[in-house]
Formats: sequence, structure tokens, C-alpha cells
Amino acid sequence: MNGKAIIETKNLTKIYHVDGREIRAVDNLNLTVYEGELFGYLGPNGSGKTTTILMLLGLIQPTSGEGKVAGYDIIRESKMIRRVAGYIPERYSFYEDLSAYENLEYFAKLNNIPKNEVEERIKWALEIVELSKWINAPVKTFSRGMKQRLALANVLIRKPKIIFLDEPTAGLDPHATAKFRSLIKKLNNEFNITIFLSSHMLHEVRQICNKIGFLKDGRLIAIDTIDGFMNKMGIKVILEATNINHKIIKSIESLNDVNKVLKVNDKLVIYARNDVRLDISKIVTGLGEYVLTLKIEPPTLEEVFFIVYGEKGG
Ligand SMILES: Nc1ncnc2c1ncn2[C@@H]1O[C@H](COP(=O)(O)OP(=O)(O)OP(=O)(O)O)[C@@H](O)[C@H]1O
Ligand SMILES: [Mg+2]
Repeated sequence: MNGKAIIETKNLTKIYHVDGREIRAVDNLNLTVYEGELFGYLGPNGSGKTTTILMLLGLIQPTSGEGKVAGYDIIRESKMIRRVAGYIPERYSFYEDLSAYENLEYFAKLNNIPKNEVEERIKWALEIVELSKWINAPVKTFSRGMKQRLALANVLIRKPKIIFLDEPTAGLDPHATAKFRSLIKKLNNEFNITIFLSSHMLHEVRQICNKIGFLKDGRLIAIDTIDGFMNKMGIKVILEATNINHKIIKSIESLNDVNKVLKVNDKLVIYARNDVRLDISKIVTGLGEYVLTLKIEPPTLEEVFFIVYGEKGG
């Protein structure tokens, strides 16, 4: 990462009016994504992910605010953005009767790829997405996962600086999902392509992204690296005791460093800013019970979102 911004927005806003109601699909978004990042844009259904992507690509007009992608203004220079940015929408289609090659050739022509480079670029892209074997097979014989990889090849032949992927693994089976995710990582790692990936699945962005922005009701409520999110959390303590009663729970909850206490089966899970094991053990024995287990476990990112933001991450 060289610290150069590739996406920058300032108070970017999109308001829709539906049946006299105002919907703030994207609400004063201030977002910076740096070159080389594998950015996860996380948010539940309807939080504004697609709307953001469409504005960044200049495919819809913002209501207010501004933005730049690869240095180009999203309102005045969106044509240039579409030249350097690849985009795989939530839904798209290929010509089912044409082969993989013919489909890519068709789109290459539409995108003004120099004629003498078309064949070479198609072969190169199909190689990367591991579809070379099926270069002449009609797309109607492709699985959903293969079509998704073909969509990626279609974007790659234009040699993009950045690729926008809108919920790219929705509808893929676990095997195809894993394959697609490792492909995205490879594009980011080996070809240094910045990736902007929208998803409503926390476990997905956790697995592949190095930075996450969390969107809720059109607003970016958190943005950080995975490590950054984990550090916000502090620690998680697991307690088992001879009897976990109400008094014990109340006393632990009242400790200064404790953020949240959850009873899970016979155990107590305590989220705290510091190691509070000593205080906990004093409370338990002070109330006449014995400690059976008292240990620190690393929290999961799901827990971080749940505890810090009160969200399950979509
Ligand atoms: N063309 C439109 N007209 C009216 N409202 C719209 C339009 N497009 C989006 N919205 C509304 O804007 C909000 C954000 O929608 P958007 O599609 O950006 O969310 P999303 O995060 O992509 O959701 P999903 O996970 O379902 O794809 C939603 O409330 C949606 O209903
Ligand atoms: Mg969407």
C-alpha cells in the first residue's frame, strides 16, 4: 500500500423519494479507500451498498456531495472512471449460445480494446480465472461459479486499476465461493488491483478483506482494518463457576472495565477493556461460590461488531 487514495467521497448523498417518503439511500458518506486495498463494504440489505457503487461509477447522479475515483470526478468525468474501473453488478448476463471467447470478444469490441490485442487479452484473462479449458464452450453449459469467473475475466481484459464487486458470491455454492474468493485475493496480491467488495456477510469480508467499512441505513458507522476492529474490542473472558447467579452477574457488570456480560449456557462471557480475571475471581469467591474456569479467549470479529456497534454485521 502506498497511501494514495483511489476513492474519496465527501458528504456523498443519494436521496430517493418513494410515495412521498424520503429514503436516504446513502447519507453523507465520507469514505477513503487507498490504492492496493482489498476493501470490504459491509452492510445489511438496503443499507446503500449498491447505490454507493453506482454513484462511484457515475451510473447514477448523487443528490449532493462529491467524489473521486482514480482522480476523476464522479459527476464530470465518469466516462474516464469507467475506463479504469471494472464492475461486476449483482446481476448481469452473457449470451448463452455464444462461447466464453465470443462473449469476451463481443464486450472487448464494445469497450474499444485495440483489435490486435483482443485475442491475447482474452486468453490471458481466461487463464487467470481458470477457464482456458472452456474457451470454446457455450456459456449455457457453465455453472453459476464459472459464469462469475467469466464476468471477472470480462472485467480483467480491460486491465482495470480497481474492481467493484457487488455481493459477488451471492448464489454460489461453498466450493465456487472459496474459489472466487481466492481469485479476488490473487488479483489484489499479484496484480495490485484495488478491490471494492460489497457484502452483507461479515465472515466473507473478514476472510478476504484487509479493511472494512460498515454501512447502516446509508451511513458509514465504522471503518478500520481488521486488527483495528479487534483492538477496539479488548478481551473476552470465559467464566465457569459452581453457581452463576444474578448477584455474580450484577457485580461483574458493575466493574469499570467491563463492556458487556452474556450468559451462554452455563458459562458467562465477559467482554472487557482489560484483564479483569482477578476482580471476577474475587467476586465469585466473595459470594460463596468456586471458580471452575476463568480464561481469556480472543473475540471473533462478529463479537466485535455485536458488542461495539450492537450489530450482527448484516
Ligand atoms: N431506484 C431506487 N428508487 C427508490 N429507492 C431506491 C432505489 N434504489 C435503491 N433504493 C433504496 O435505497 C436504499 C438502499 O438500497 P441499495 O440497493 O443501495 O442497498 P444495498 O445495500 O445494495 O442492499 P442489498 O443488500 O439488498 O443489495 C434501500 O432502502 C432501497 O430500497
Ligand atoms: Mg445491493
